[in-house]
Amino acid sequence: LKGDPRIIASMLPPALPPVNQRRRWLHRVAVSAASALAAPAVLAQPARGLTLRFSHVVADETPKGLAVLRFQSLVAQRSGGRIQVLTYPDGQLYGDHDEMAALQLGAVEMLAPSLSKFGRIGFPEFELFDLPFLFGNLADVRRITQGPLGQRLLQGLGRHGLSGLGYLDNGFKQMSANRPLLAPSDFAGLRMRVQASRVIAAQMRALGAQPVSLPFSETRRALASGVVHGTENPVSNFWTQRMHEVQSDLSLTEHGYLGYAVVVNRRFWLSLQPADRELLGQALREALRYGDQIADAQNTLALAALRRAGSTRIHTLSALQRTRLREAVEPVHEALERRIGLGWMQAMREALKPATTG
Ligand code: LMR
Repeated sequence: LKGDPRIIASMLPPALPPVNQRRRWLHRVAVSAASALAAPAVLAQPARGLTLRFSHVVADETPKGLAVLRFQSLVAQRSGGRIQVLTYPDGQLYGDHDEMAALQLGAVEMLAPSLSKFGRIGFPEFELFDLPFLFGNLADVRRITQGPLGQRLLQGLGRHGLSGLGYLDNGFKQMSANRPLLAPSDFAGLRMRVQASRVIAAQMRALGAQPVSLPFSETRRALASGVVHGTENPVSNFWTQRMHEVQSDLSLTEHGYLGYAVVVNRRFWLSLQPADRELLGQALREALRYGDQIADAQNTLALAALRRAGSTRIHTLSALQRTRLREAVEPVHEALERRIGLGWMQAMREALKPATTG
């Protein structure tokens, strides 16, 4: 990624093709039905060949999309083509509401939902990552994700039949709408699309907006039709979903973090030959570290592409403006600590304590 930024930026797609919602729905139903019937076949695959279906909701040209493609090629290379990873980006197969059920049914083998989407399925402790202005930078995030607390969070996924295989960064979220969002008063009366996280919903309420939880793949359409007025996302998601065509203003608030956990169906994972599990685990770890390395660059490139597109005004906040936003959402930390769990909150504070001594 060290070359001419214009060349790399040209790798970002100008647009997603329009999605035929009806065809997609029919395809999904057909795949679910076929896979539900065929679910045991995944476990009964001949020892030689193995196919894993990896579904996610964002474009290939995002940190997550590129990490998944890297995983696909590492696995193909190291298994000599014996293990195949099929990737389904952009919610082609499943979206936020049905991907977990698909994993449990055996209709797909791997997902990488954002950490914000685990609360809704029974893991509210993951919503600690959504606390606004919690992390100063990505190094802070990694003190959790790459440390013992991150491991404990992943182990807890076993409660509902999942195995958590690792974390991946996207980056910091920015606010968009058809007006600048620089002060709490700018949010008054706005319906803001959020992921299904109580913490993020509380953050929007604290700013005076009305949170509306919608699947990612429906967000652009909801913005275009005025169902919602604004949203929050890292720039790589904003750009690759062409949200700049339906949002006149992007405010670089960097108020919260967006990252992912890769999950598999636990029963499927444990049914694999140990050597295959090792190969897949190692390839995934390398792909996730690659994703972490390029995450910042992808967001920077998307911001450059957005500036060139010229359709959205980009606002940088002063330190004082960020402080005001931060003060407005500060009460969310205390208000939601019971939801997240006092023990998890305490462990998170310990993990983030500055490592300075007297
Ligand atoms: C969102 O729903 O806004 C994000 O979680 C999408 C993603 O996977 O990055």
